[in-house]
Amino acid sequence: MSADRLIDHSLLNTLVGVRLVLDPLIHASTPDELIQTLRERSLSSDAFVINYHRISHHPQRIPSRRLLGRLAVQIDGEISFDRPHTRFLLVETSSRYYLTRQIQGCSPPWADYAQRPHAYSAALSTELAGLAVNLVAKRGETLIDPTCGSGTIVYEALSRGVRARGSDLKWQWVTRARENLSAFGFNQAPAGLGSSLLISQGDARSIDFIADAIVANLPYGRQVSLSDHLLKDLLTNIASRASRFAFFSGTPLDLTLNEIGYHSVISFNLTRQTSHPRYLTLASNER
Ligand SMILES: C[S@@+](CC[C@H](N)C(=O)[O-])C[C@H]1O[C@@H](n2cnc3c(N)ncnc32)[C@H](O)[C@@H]1O
Repeated sequence: MSADRLIDHSLLNTLVGVRLVLDPLIHASTPDELIQTLRERSLSSDAFVINYHRISHHPQRIPSRRLLGRLAVQIDGEISFDRPHTRFLLVETSSRYYLTRQIQGCSPPWADYAQRPHAYSAALSTELAGLAVNLVAKRGETLIDPTCGSGTIVYEALSRGVRARGSDLKWQWVTRARENLSAFGFNQAPAGLGSSLLISQGDARSIDFIADAIVANLPYGRQVSLSDHLLKDLLTNIASRASRFAFFSGTPLDLTLNEIGYHSVISFNLTRQTSHPRYLTLASNER
């Protein structure tokens, strides 16, 4: 899995724990490389602030204030400490620097999504959906959610320029997801996904598709339970259909995924944030 997408494990754990959702922008091993990369990216943002977070027992390599100042002058826009529209976060780990953009729960499109026609008690929070999409797919890539429920993951992906579509076993969720997405102007699947239907009906244990990434909040719980056996069939069917995966689940998935042949399996316990779902597991089928 590309290092760009899978930021440092301990960092991700911490960030999930503190309820931050980040757009990873750039990373580098030295401050100079970070500044140079930022200059090449020509980032602009009005009313921004850069915060700093260190995840390491190592001493700071250079004073954070000096580095933040050097970064700030590379960003085209005004600094605003009082009312920033954008918060960047510089994270220093023992070996790398990561410049990320923090997305707050109140920032669009999430605020709008609260107004969708059909909510769902098992729906994923838009923050978690956005986090997972960010980690496995970038703008222009294709993504499928084969157990899409009310469509939160598909919505988050489309809002970020990821070409996404979804499907669900139950017709009632197919129609609700369609209505939810239609309320935000998403009516057709983007090109390259093998179907023009944005949401279709299908059993994830047998559907056929190919995408760069799969993100799914897997069925579990009283209403939508799947026995272990069925869950395994589902995970086996989709294992070869994408390169990168992010699964939300109620029980740990790492052993099952390793058994089926997924690679680079990393599991995060989300219980500090929410008990539903309890795990986020990232995996790849690239060796
Ligand atoms: C936890 S919910 C997903 C919630 C969704 N992420 C949302 O935000 O609304 C799981 C969904 O999986 C669907 N499902 C259950 N078994 C399935 C199967 N075999 N194939 C496809 N979808 C299935 C259920 O109908 C349910 O909508």
